[in-house]
Order: sequence, then structure tokens, then C-alpha cells
Amino acid sequence: MWIGCVQLSEVRNYRTLSWRPAPRLNVVSGPNAQGKTNLLEALGLIITGRSFRTSRLAEIPCWGTEATALAGDLVRGETQRTVRRTLNRLEDGTWQNTGEAAPEWARAIAFGWQDLEIVNGGPVARRNFIDGFAGRLYPNHIATLLRFRQILARRNRLLQQRAHDAAQSAKLQPWNEQLATVGMELLGRRRKAVAALQTELARVYAALSGARTKVEIRYRTALGEATEPAALLAALEHRQREEMRRGLTLVGPHRDDLAIELDGVDARAFGSRGQQRLVALALRLAEVLPVTEAAGTAPVLLLDDALSELDATVRGHVLREVQSAEQVFLTTPDTPAVEGAAIFHVSGGSVTAI
Ligand SMILES: Nc1ncnc2c1ncn2[C@@H]1O[C@H](COP(=O)(O)OP(=O)(O)OP(=O)(O)O)[C@@H](O)[C@H]1O
Ligand SMILES: [Mg+2]
Repeated sequence: MWIGCVQLSEVRNYRTLSWRPAPRLNVVSGPNAQGKTNLLEALGLIITGRSFRTSRLAEIPCWGTEATALAGDLVRGETQRTVRRTLNRLEDGTWQNTGEAAPEWARAIAFGWQDLEIVNGGPVARRNFIDGFAGRLYPNHIATLLRFRQILARRNRLLQQRAHDAAQSAKLQPWNEQLATVGMELLGRRRKAVAALQTELARVYAALSGARTKVEIRYRTALGEATEPAALLAALEHRQREEMRRGLTLVGPHRDDLAIELDGVDARAFGSRGQQRLVALALRLAEVLPVTEAAGTAPVLLLDDALSELDATVRGHVLREVQSAEQVFLTTPDTPAVEGAAIFHVSGGSVTAI
């Protein structure tokens, strides 16, 4: 798929913008603080309904404005759908996102600075990464995740209540069962997502780095290879006394992690900064093929500052790799010479073709 004509009104530092990107590679260049990342964020918002940069809607409207509008033509083969979204300020000062839902085939994959955390941050960043990817593959994954979080919060609240051991056990029982069922569903999809990523990750990392370094990703859980809810239920029961003492659920997918290794050693502990950035980028690019197969069309790639901190050879490899994707937006503070790319210059919230 690709995004055709884009219209923005009062979005971040864009007062008004009407822009026609190219269906393939778009290089978005310009000095710092001119609106390159804001533009990618707006494209992501049109396609997916969410910002890849913030969960706070109030940050997106231009300061001082009351209403914000975004629209874009989403094209897939012969089909074209115009998606319009508005953010409106309610009386209580909060913002509401209204507008039509994007077509079910619309997908965007974003890469940005925050993605370095997938490799060198804590487990939360890796769980969010795999859940985001699984959500692009299996549309009901996010609903399962939200359901799981609700159950977990209820169970934790119960664990924090001071009560007689026996009484508390009885109250916990139905929550244990729900947590085990929904938890195993979540875990199963995450494992499938990791498996879908592995082959592509190895290929993409080799293509980007030009080296023979082997990269591997594995799902890490205290439940080993278990696939049945009974295994999680048994683990919960086994640790229940400790959980009651600490007021916290100690086993389940909310404690899991991903192992990311380069030639058998932990990329987080031993990878160089450039290697870590490249692994993070390779993880996003490795999503492309599985997401294309799941959605029936290629996702739009929003690559924010994907070339920085990489040496000239690796940059060349990245540019070659993204040429084979469908529509790509690549921001950069300088203007690289890229064959066949449409080049745009961003300055103070306006975009001009070069
Ligand atoms: N809600 C908003 N309303 C108005 N302006 C905003 C809003 N949010 C951010 N900005 C402004 O937008 C400017 C450009 O931001 P953006 O992150 O897009 O820059 P950039 O071109 O990606 O820069 P860099 O090269 O440093 O990454 C910021 O300097 C900020 O002042
Ligand atoms: Mg930026």
C-alpha cells in the first residue's frame, strides 16, 4: 500500500500542509527542529490512528489550537480510500480522536530513536516491540493484551488486600484461571511472532551490516516450552504464597523477555552502539515481509533518522535494502544522493520538493 495526497491542519508545527509524496522512496531532509519527525508521526497517525511517538493525544495539535485535522489517500492496487481524522478539544481540556477507521489492510511500520531501547533498554521495551508486531500480524492481539492487563491489575489488587490466606486463595482462584487462559493465548501469539521474525532478521541484518555476524532472537519465559494454560495455572499456584506476601503477580507473559544475540552473545551487554542501532533497524525491517503476508499488502515504512550513527558503507546497504520495499519515508538532516528517490526539504513546517 501507499499513501497519496496528505492534508494536515494544525498538526504540531504544521499550520496547513497539502503534500503529495511519491509511491516509492521519499527522502525527507532538512535541518534539526523543522518538522521531519512531526511529518512521519502525522503519516503514521493517518494510517494507524495512533502516534508512534506519544500516547498523549494532547501533544499533537499545534499549540494554542482548538481543532486538528489530518487526511490522506490510502492506495492499494486499484483501491483508494481517503481517511480523515480530527482531534477535538473537549470541555474538560482532554482531546478526542474522531474520524473513520483506516481500511483493515492499512499498516505502517515506524522506526525511530526510541527503538534503540528494544536492544539496550529494559524488558518492557522488548515486550512492547513484540506486542506491536504481533498486533500488525494478528489484529485481535491488542485486544487480548488489554484484556490480560485488566485481569492482571484485578489480580494484583486482590493480592494486595490483607486477608486470611484461605479466603484470599478462594478469591484468587477464578482470576488465576482467567489469567492462565488469556496469558497463554498472548504468549502463544508472541512466540509465533518471534518465529515469523527470526529468518527475516538474520537475512536483513546480514544485508545491512555486510558482515557474517549471526543475529538471533528468542522468546524468554519462565514457562519453558509449555503451551497449555494448565502450566501457567500450576506456576501461579506454586508461587502464590510469595505473591501474597509481595502483593504482585510473579509469573506470566508480563514478566517475559526477548533474548537478542549477536554471534551467541547478548547484544545489550556486548554490542557496539552502531551494532545496537543496526539490530534495532533490522528488527523493524524484518517485520516487513511477515506483515505484508498477513495484511495482503506491503506496509508503509516510516524511518526516522535511520542512517545516523552508521558508517558510510552500512548507510549504502540500508538505502539498497529499503529500495526493495514499497513506500518508504526516510528522514535525514543531510541530503544523501539516492537513486530513484523523491527528495523533499522540510523547513519551519513546510515541505518543498527538490
Ligand atoms: N504541538 C506542537 N505545536 C507546535 N509545534 C510543535 C509541537 N510539537 C512540537 N513542535 C515543534 O516542532 C519542532 C520540530 O519537531 P521535529 O521533531 O519534527 O523536528 P525534526 O525536523 O525531526 O528535527 P531533528 O532533526 O532534530 O530530529 C520542534 O522543535 C517543536 O518546537
Ligand atoms: Mg526528528
